[in-house]
Amino acid sequence: MHPPSVTHLRYAAHAVPDFRASVDFYKRTWGLRLVESDTGLAFLAAEGSDEPYVLRLRANDEKHLDMIGLGVADAATVDRLASEFIAADVRIDREPGALDTPGGGYGFRFFDPDGKLVELSADVRPGPSRALEPGEAIPQGLSHFVLNSPDVPATKAFYEERLGFELSDWLGDFMCFLRIGPLHHVLAISAAPHSSLNHVAFDMRGLEEYLRGTGKLIRAGVRPVWGPGRHGPGNNTFSYFVDPNGFVSEYTSELQVIDESRWVPEVWDTGAEKSDLWGTAGPFEEFLPYALNEPDKLIWTPSPV
Ligand SMILES: [Fe+2]
Repeated sequence: MHPPSVTHLRYAAHAVPDFRASVDFYKRTWGLRLVESDTGLAFLAAEGSDEPYVLRLRANDEKHLDMIGLGVADAATVDRLASEFIAADVRIDREPGALDTPGGGYGFRFFDPDGKLVELSADVRPGPSRALEPGEAIPQGLSHFVLNSPDVPATKAFYEERLGFELSDWLGDFMCFLRIGPLHHVLAISAAPHSSLNHVAFDMRGLEEYLRGTGKLIRAGVRPVWGPGRHGPGNNTFSYFVDPNGFVSEYTSELQVIDESRWVPEVWDTGAEKSDLWGTAGPFEEFLPYALNEPDKLIWTPSPV
């Protein structure tokens, strides 16, 4: 078994009709730091992460998951993967080259089997970061992405075979959790009638900060659509919120660190007792439409930036 090619999550990129509302929400309410902003384009960083940005927002008439960014070890890996993808007829959007986004670096872009645009990059200059203080209810960094897919087995196989992700667990037969190291998952693929973003999860410092963060949103008038709660698979806490453009973002903490040498994936049953261990999260049925999201009309569409 070869080691995973992906080292970490870099960023999620939303294209949004109400650009100002999302910038304000993620800066003032969610707790990210605006690092660079141009007309209709904003980059936001998490205080506890040295990624130059973890969220990119772009003004666009149509709501769309613009891109996800994944880190790889070095430029040679970027070139190797680009060659492998071209040989395997993966649709490439941009050939390997220098990136002109914050932190620079070297990368290329391709479409995954569901038409989602992915950027793989290396040699990105770290941004400023610091250890969060006890009680600070702002994100430390990204935790995981969940992607909605009309063909979970095919998309799972792509991330496993092309990028070295490994299966940690299944939830029923509709959602699989994938890892690139001892963290239980950084990516999950969830069954849906269409391709779209399910949610982006932000890691909080700990249980206390996660709960304070949840309360901070409630006080700001943004109630969780599911949560607070703790999941069975991954054992992480969760509070899911809907942002002003209808994307779901999550505060989470304490994602399980596994012993990869002994880990055997299991299939979790989908009952509320397992998906909501505390019994505090509220009805999953009310969350489901938000998580399925609208069909993303711009799949297979390159991003202009
Ligand atoms: Fe999540």
